[in-house]
Amino acid sequence: MWGGRFAEGPSAIMREINASIPFDKALWRQDIAASKAHVTMLGARNIVSAADTETILAGLGKVAGEYEANGVPENWDLEDIHMTTESRLAELIGPVAGRLHTARSRNDQVATDFRLWVRDAIDETLAGLDALRRALVEQAGNHAESIMPGFTHLQTAQPVTLGHHLMAYYEMTSRDVSRFEDARARLNRSPLGSAALAGTGFPIDREMTAKALGFDSPTDNSLDAVSDRDFALDYLSAATQCSLHLSRLAEEFVIWASQPFGFVRMADSLSTGSSIMPQKKNPDAAELVRGHAGRIMGCFTSLMVTMKGLPLAYSKDMQDDKPPVFEAHGLLRLSIAAMVGMIADSTFKTERMRQAAELGYATATDLADWLVREADIPFREAHHVTGAAVKLAESKGCALDELSLDELQAIDGRVDERVYKALSVEASVAARCSHGGTAPVEVRKRVAAARLALGLG
Ligand code: ARG
Repeated sequence: MWGGRFAEGPSAIMREINASIPFDKALWRQDIAASKAHVTMLGARNIVSAADTETILAGLGKVAGEYEANGVPENWDLEDIHMTTESRLAELIGPVAGRLHTARSRNDQVATDFRLWVRDAIDETLAGLDALRRALVEQAGNHAESIMPGFTHLQTAQPVTLGHHLMAYYEMTSRDVSRFEDARARLNRSPLGSAALAGTGFPIDREMTAKALGFDSPTDNSLDAVSDRDFALDYLSAATQCSLHLSRLAEEFVIWASQPFGFVRMADSLSTGSSIMPQKKNPDAAELVRGHAGRIMGCFTSLMVTMKGLPLAYSKDMQDDKPPVFEAHGLLRLSIAAMVGMIADSTFKTERMRQAAELGYATATDLADWLVREADIPFREAHHVTGAAVKLAESKGCALDELSLDELQAIDGRVDERVYKALSVEASVAARCSHGGTAPVEVRKRVAAARLALGLG
């Protein structure tokens, strides 16, 4: 492509280190679309004749057909997808192919292609998150009354409902959706026509190409347009945050599926066995979601470090922008799909969850609250009285509501038999009906609002 200035070809190592075609061939659809938009505009502005425009458009269609049928050929000498396409176009339609690159550089071309690719990736991610939120809301609706222990420090804290717990992930993934939507809105401007770095003297119409490619408007500074990879970092940042949420949920499944917990039976379809231990059923999909989150964070870090020291405008380091984004997207897509299956197809062992809530003195706070409310004892003192009751129950190996009234009154004479109503796990969750609390009535409200937001009616 630049033979005019060079006396010698590149060394073998230069060809290899320079080649981005092994990965940027993933941009072929975007590259063809952007080239079509560009040459259509060149034709409309009489920069390229109508006849040549038609020839180039037909040729691009043919190249796309070949890619679709046979994949993109990988020739390192052609470096990247842009030159691969242009060279094939020249083979098909002859020298007129050379007119396509008028008023364009690979710098604005790659910035355009990559934005289009990330935009598609965001749309695919949003569809996946929609499915995940639906699965969460469905199961939360099924389990608005299922009682389980709520934890802090992974120690039993207070009873909650499984529906409430699942809706916590609905909130997290809804924020992820809004982060991806933000990223998409900021991304949606067209760098095409910024050329190498300074713009062009040809009378191009940047509004026209922007519109043809579904962008809201052209970018306003050519230097920024070819140097900016914020859109990819925004995507990776949102992906990182999202994968972090998926990883926490996956970790809970790993814990819940363990025998000592036994809160959940994971679907066979998302588990594996052991080659030596016949009894094993391992939560591999959940562990891989947890593992993938680490890799996605690595992708985000990788691109931040690539970009942080680069002067304007384009530097070849920026060719390394694509692998981390491609990798992160592939990992996130799989992680979301695996979590959809995990939520939808797991069997929650509600009886076991309920027992765990009863065994862990989860209603101790309810006893303290009762003493404050009914016996007018200051909370700190009530806390102390309750601690003594827990200590006694623990030494007897029984639940709080299995202590006799005599035993409770021996600890504090102001206790009466009404206290037993407050000590059941049902009463405990039902009492927590503040906005956003775990009471079944409140969870049902949140589920109804979420169903509305998701268009589930
Ligand atoms: N293969 C390059 C990339 O992916 C295309 C841009 C090349 N521009 C340049 N000035 N060498 O970044």
